[in-house]
Amino acid sequence: MKGIVLAGGTGSRLFPLTKITNKHLLPIYDKPMIYYPIQTLVDAGITDIMVVTGGKNSGDFLRLLANGKHFGLKHIAYTYQEGEGGIADALNLCEHFADGQDICVVLGDNIIEKNILDAAEAFQKQGKGARILLKEVHDAERFGVAEFAGDRIIGIEEKPAHPKSQYAVTGIYMYDATVFDKIRTCKPSGRNELEITDVNNAYIQEGTMSFSFLDGWWTDAGTFESLLRAANLVAKTRIADGAADGGSV
Ligand code: DAU
Repeated sequence: MKGIVLAGGTGSRLFPLTKITNKHLLPIYDKPMIYYPIQTLVDAGITDIMVVTGGKNSGDFLRLLANGKHFGLKHIAYTYQEGEGGIADALNLCEHFADGQDICVVLGDNIIEKNILDAAEAFQKQGKGARILLKEVHDAERFGVAEFAGDRIIGIEEKPAHPKSQYAVTGIYMYDATVFDKIRTCKPSGRNELEITDVNNAYIQEGTMSFSFLDGWWTDAGTFESLLRAANLVAKTRIADGAADGGSV
């Protein structure tokens, strides 16, 4: 399975922090934000990775990440999203890179405590379709939200005013090669973006969408509150791990 990190968009919710740099280069505790989603892929055993950048500072990604030596990689592929046409628009740029293989997509501002190994293995066994990772949250209206009938997922609503469950769709998605056909059927939403939720609903309609629950904490980092929360969660975990190892932090 190949890996994709989406780090396009303008980060307008973090202005003026994002006035002169890209959101995904901002610090989360002791590392730039983009390190975390890349590490999520590497921890799942995925080493063939493409980063989608955008905005005015895309050259900085190359200087920061180079060929991925820091992550034990031999190579990182890059592409550039013009404008901010949405998450599905950014993903659409990766068809050539995916080359017919399964992909695991991680949003550049999603940070997790543990790993996604079990979900990745379950997806490989599944053979086709898609798999999303869900997390129970108290502020579901900020996210894509799953609707269930029994233990089946029957739809996802993007930022609903009245969520039908407390299960947010995290920014970690596993897709087969048909994802690009599905993106081609999407129309721009009210916020003029190609929505990843429409792509996920296409898999649900087809009956090929599965889900796993994400272990440990999960946060995005796209608002001032969540940026601070992400840094605090990472720091707390790092300090707890250091204490467990008996080492200094
Ligand atoms: O964090 C999970 C949530 O991410 C999901 O629950 C939602 O269903 C999904 O739509 C998304 O919601 P957001 O509105 O929070 O997404 P945002 O616009 O903040 O973009 C998240 C990341 O996606 C961003 O850090 C980089 C990438 N992106 C986004 C856009 C709009 C791109 O690469 N290009 C884009 O044009």
